[in-house]
Amino acid sequence: MKLTYFGHACFQVEIEGTKLLFDHFITPNDLAKDIDIKEINPDYILVSHGHEDHVADVENIARQSGATLISNFEIVSWFEKKGIEKTHPMNHGGNWQFPFGKVKYITAIHSSVLPDGTYGGNPGGFVIESKEGNFYFAGDTALTMDMKLIPMFTELDFAILPIGDNFTMGIEEAVMASNFIACDKIVGMHYDTFGFIEIDHERAKEQFKYNDAELTLLKIGETKTF
Ligand code: NI
Ligand code: MN
Repeated sequence: MKLTYFGHACFQVEIEGTKLLFDHFITPNDLAKDIDIKEINPDYILVSHGHEDHVADVENIARQSGATLISNFEIVSWFEKKGIEKTHPMNHGGNWQFPFGKVKYITAIHSSVLPDGTYGGNPGGFVIESKEGNFYFAGDTALTMDMKLIPMFTELDFAILPIGDNFTMGIEEAVMASNFIACDKIVGMHYDTFGFIEIDHERAKEQFKYNDAELTLLKIGETKTF
């Protein structure tokens, strides 16, 4: 699996040539100004919840790529009204077998409203199982005991967790989350984009290391293979 970071909570995971793009927030993000969304052409778009900092570029990228949008029922319905036709609605606890692998939509403790005030359903995260490996994209979430369910079903190769604090869990709780999900390879997200969520990178990495886990903080545009 090839993981590429586009800033904030936006990641692309490539599995056997199929590209999955999560939580698009590129054009409004000053830190990602060198990324040109015209060059991003995923096969699938996955959206964890309705907040602006997760859906900002979804419509444009969906149109230019013709990708299939996977999200909760409410978010999918909102984009369908905008004319996005290739969609797959899910809800919590549900699994679906796609050509690239199995997707499960799971709990996140957060909120979810779309940019125009439309109800965005309950926020979620995704567990993906594929031939190349398994991973967890947590979305925006607090630490939750529900995370302990994940390793009962899936052995994770890596997990993308929010670490910025204030709007989501911070580093200390993300370390606990890595224990809950039985995964020691963590990729950080949802940090540094706004003043409320700036973090000390070295301190964050040390805290994970102290707990026998590895925190990867990718540079925007950087790719790592798992
Ligand atoms: Ni959010
Ligand atoms: Mn957010």
